[in-house]
Formats: sequence, C-alpha cells, structure tokens
Amino acid sequence: MADGNITKDAMYGAVAPDDFNSMLTLDRYAQRSTAFDKIISATHDHFWDPLDKRYIDFDEPFDLENEAMMPDETQPLLRLPYVAESLTDPKQKIAFINYLQLRSFSSILHGEQGALNLSASLCHVLYDQGAQEYAANQTREEARHVTAFAKYVKSRWGRPTECGKALKSLLVEIIEAPEVYKKLVGMQMLVEGLAMGAFANGFRYNRDPVARKLFQLVMTDEAFHHKFGKIWADRTIPKLTEAERNLVEDWTAHCAQQLIFDRGDPREMSEIFGRFGLDPERVIENIIQRRKERDPVRRFRGDTNVFRVLIKTLLNAGLITQRTRAFYGAYVDLDELAGEGERMVGDEIAEEGILFLQAINFKERALVARAAE
Ligand SMILES: [Fe+2]
Ligand SMILES: [Fe+2]
Repeated sequence: MADGNITKDAMYGAVAPDDFNSMLTLDRYAQRSTAFDKIISATHDHFWDPLDKRYIDFDEPFDLENEAMMPDETQPLLRLPYVAESLTDPKQKIAFINYLQLRSFSSILHGEQGALNLSASLCHVLYDQGAQEYAANQTREEARHVTAFAKYVKSRWGRPTECGKALKSLLVEIIEAPEVYKKLVGMQMLVEGLAMGAFANGFRYNRDPVARKLFQLVMTDEAFHHKFGKIWADRTIPKLTEAERNLVEDWTAHCAQQLIFDRGDPREMSEIFGRFGLDPERVIENIIQRRKERDPVRRFRGDTNVFRVLIKTLLNAGLITQRTRAFYGAYVDLDELAGEGERMVGDEIAEEGILFLQAINFKERALVARAAE
C-alpha cells in the first residue's frame, strides 16, 4: 500500500498511481468489498442521457436578450451602489446577469471535467475492486455531466469562459495527488459539496426551464457521489491519530479556501466589470466597503447559499474541529448549522429527479421486455 493515504478501512486502500502490478495480485480478486454495490446498481434507476430528448431538450430556446436568467435579488453585485447606479438600462442589466450566468455555468463545466478526470484517477489508485467499480461508475456519470453542461453552454452562449485560476489549481492538485484522502476530501466532499449548493440554487431560481431540468438531472447523480465521500469520512475520521486528523483538516481548509477565494476574489472579476463599462476599481471599493459593514458571521445566508451548504457538508462529516473552527466561523454560524441536522437542501430535489427518471426508465424497460417476447 502506498504511504500517505491514511487508510483506515481496507475498502479505501490504495496503491501508487503507476503501480499496476499490484492490481494483478491473485488474492485481490477474491476480496471485493460490497459496501458500494447499492450505489453502483442505483445508477440504472437514475440513468439519463443528455443526447436523448425524452430526458432533456437543449433545443428549447431561451431569450437571453430580453430575460434575465436569475432574479435581481439573487445577484449581490447588483446591490452595490456603484453598480446599481451605472446599470440603469434594463437590457444592460439583463446582459450583465446573463453574462454572470455564463461564467457560472463555465465554472461548473470545468468542475465537471475535473470530476471526470479525478474519478478516473481513483480507478488507478483504489485497490479494492468494489471501490474501483464505484469510481468507474462515477467517471461515467461525470462524463455525461460534461456532455450536458457543454451542450447547455453551447446552446445558450456558443462558448464557455476560461476556468478561474484558483479552481484550476485546486483541480490540478487533486487530480495529480497520489493520496486518496486528498482526492476524496477535495472532490467528493469539497467540490461536490459546493456543486450541490450551486445546483440547488440554480434549480430554485433559474428562469430557464432547461437549466432547471439540467440541474435536477445532475443532482440525481451527485447525491450518490457525495455519499461515497461521506462513507469514507464516517469510516476514517473517527480512527485518525491526532497528527493524521490535523493533516486531513488542514487539507480540507486549504481546499475550502481555494474554492471560496475563486468565487470571491474581485480581481478575477475585473474582466466582467470592464465588459459592462464599469470601472473595476470602483466596484472593488464598493465590495470592500460592504464586507466591512457586514456582520462577518452572517456573511453567507440562506439554505441554498453555496458556501453555507459546503461548510455544512464538512461539519457533518467531522472535518471541522476546534482547531479549524475559527477559519469557517468567519463565514457562517457553525452552531446554527450544527442544529439543522444532516439533511441537505439538495436531497429532496435529487429524490424528485429520480422519480422522474424511474418513470421514463421503467417504461423503457417494459417496452424492451415486450419487444423481446
Ligand atoms: Fe458531476
Ligand atoms: Fe460528481
């Protein structure tokens, strides 16, 4: 087994990424873990195909010129005094909101590509066949997310925007890391946690029915990906030594910092402001001023706020302790989160989505069975 994986349960055991020899060990074939079998076979219940119009139709139009994808009140930038007084033309405001959506969907697309490569990389390091089959299945699901978001961006805007610097460096770091804990914490806990929040938010507020359908379909898969990370956390974190726990916690905080920074760094956003005739310096002044005036603990509000959902995920998994509490406490009220229980905001949306998919998939199977008679 490779060093540094912090393996506490054999089913998450791992080897070095280039150690294919270990895979040929004869005893390995007889020791397949069944812990992930339910998640693996559930893939048939929530099967969907982004190229099949019975599931989603990317040809349905949306009038980007005349309708804002998201309501004004979901856009904190519009509440900055300088932005509010500059974007007075309604069409310009719509264009601004929709351009922010292009940026947001592009980040999601890059994140899905990261998830595809990350889960493929898990196939190379995980030693247990059951865990490998899980990872291969996740890879397949992430591949349809890449297809779906790429098609959506193409249908609405033609082309995505570049991946943000902080997100890109985090994705590169976790895909290249040989340690399983770094991959699972970085992707299944952090990136997937952030994505569940973003998708729930999009499902609730986006005015484009195609976008809402897309978020729901993707969430039916993501809920299971997050479960894989959660099973790892449940079986690993209670058994860590203090030194190991510190390593995992620091890695978690490092990844969280990258993700929060990627969204919140005003310098990354100056390209956006310039496009709409806004002076980036003045927007940044407004943002800094607002941050000073705001109650720091209440910075991220609302049950679909992406950072709030993310931090709740980490708290539930036991990845935040006294040591790192202050870091997250700067963003949310951790006592309030702890009092809310484990149910996540995306769970219901995913469950409804699975019912929709079962209806289509079950009908399909009945037809196939009849045709075979
Ligand atoms: Fe995904
Ligand atoms: Fe995923």
